[in-house]
Amino acid sequence: MGAIQEVFFRRILDSRGNATVEVDVVAEDGFGRAAAPSGASTGAHEVAAWAPGGVEESVRVGREQVAQELVGVDVLLQREIDDLLADLDGTGNFAKIGGNLAVATSLAVARCAAHSLDLPLYAYLGGAFVSRLPRPFGNVLGGGAHAVGGTDIQEYMAVALGPTVEESVFANAFVHKEVKRLLKEKYPGQSLGKGDEGAWTAPIGNVDAAELVAHACGLAQDKFGFEVRLALDVAATELWDGKAYGYKDGKKTSADQVEFLADLAKRYHILSIEDGLAEDDWDGWVALTKRIGSSTLLVGDDLFTTSPERLQKGIGLGAANAILVKPNQIGTLSRTVETIQLAHDNGYKTVISHRSGETTDDAIAHIGAAFGCFGIKTGAVGGERIAKLNELIRIEEEL
Ligand code: PGA
Ligand code: ZN
Repeated sequence: MGAIQEVFFRRILDSRGNATVEVDVVAEDGFGRAAAPSGASTGAHEVAAWAPGGVEESVRVGREQVAQELVGVDVLLQREIDDLLADLDGTGNFAKIGGNLAVATSLAVARCAAHSLDLPLYAYLGGAFVSRLPRPFGNVLGGGAHAVGGTDIQEYMAVALGPTVEESVFANAFVHKEVKRLLKEKYPGQSLGKGDEGAWTAPIGNVDAAELVAHACGLAQDKFGFEVRLALDVAATELWDGKAYGYKDGKKTSADQVEFLADLAKRYHILSIEDGLAEDDWDGWVALTKRIGSSTLLVGDDLFTTSPERLQKGIGLGAANAILVKPNQIGTLSRTVETIQLAHDNGYKTVISHRSGETTDDAIAHIGAAFGCFGIKTGAVGGERIAKLNELIRIEEEL
């Protein structure tokens, strides 16, 4: 259906002002472009983000080595192309070419293939029966590695369970506005800030923050007439020192952490808790899953790093019951899809996700739609966040 003719690599800006890579793939009948995001609270088990010399070296390797390997290959051979990227890299974790270069290339190839068939990306990936769209998870208040002076818990999210994506997106944005109003009331005269993902940040305690966001979700629920729930991303690896979880007001053992989260989940009717325990605290994960896994989604982000192998380990142990899916944690679309399918085959829910450093690339909206992901975590407001949300609204209209 068309051999790849040219591949271009360029350095572009991300939402934090850092450099990232954008890739263009040109084939006989199509064109595809994609860019890579980047994390701040990255997991230790993610593939390498960049070549040893950083973005510039990845771009150079792309131009000098990757492009020539791809030219002449049929753009529809996604799996073969993804294998070729891994073979060309040869390190097993993209340490030579960079996982971000690999993922942008992989997604640009998929986009080019879709374009050559005259299909939107979600329809190329998911086929004719795409119907279930992911529920938006919108970060409205936070701290951690994303904001100076905020909560220890990285993200407090609103998850609107509306009848349509469009209504849900607006309900989450309403919660974001209400959180601002409530914070202004609580801290009169103080300046409020925003973190990397557009969530508010304030000198508020972890439990008070849950209370405030749960209240704002309740206001949205009353206004819109459908459920709007609180969700957390603790990003607990950032708090873990190998022995305990360090909060501003003291330390918690793994067992304390499980109790703390179980209590929060019950008090605030929390829909999901992501990374409640650290990336290698498997015992803690199993304990939390036994404790509240039947009523709360427990989402592994740093725990699984979108790796089928780590997910398989979690399934075996009974750790978590859901997985956050970030394509650049694993480096190619094929490996991302392998992870999503493994999760679904084993009753784990999937939440496709942005990173804290983003571009306006909207591929995750298409991936979430194509594979029937339960949720999409991509912020509530902000240009690089609404790029995905608005694309999902367009996809919904098309369907
Ligand atoms: P990151 O954080 O993109 O900074 O790694 C987002 C998350 O932890 O989900
Ligand atoms: Zn996370």
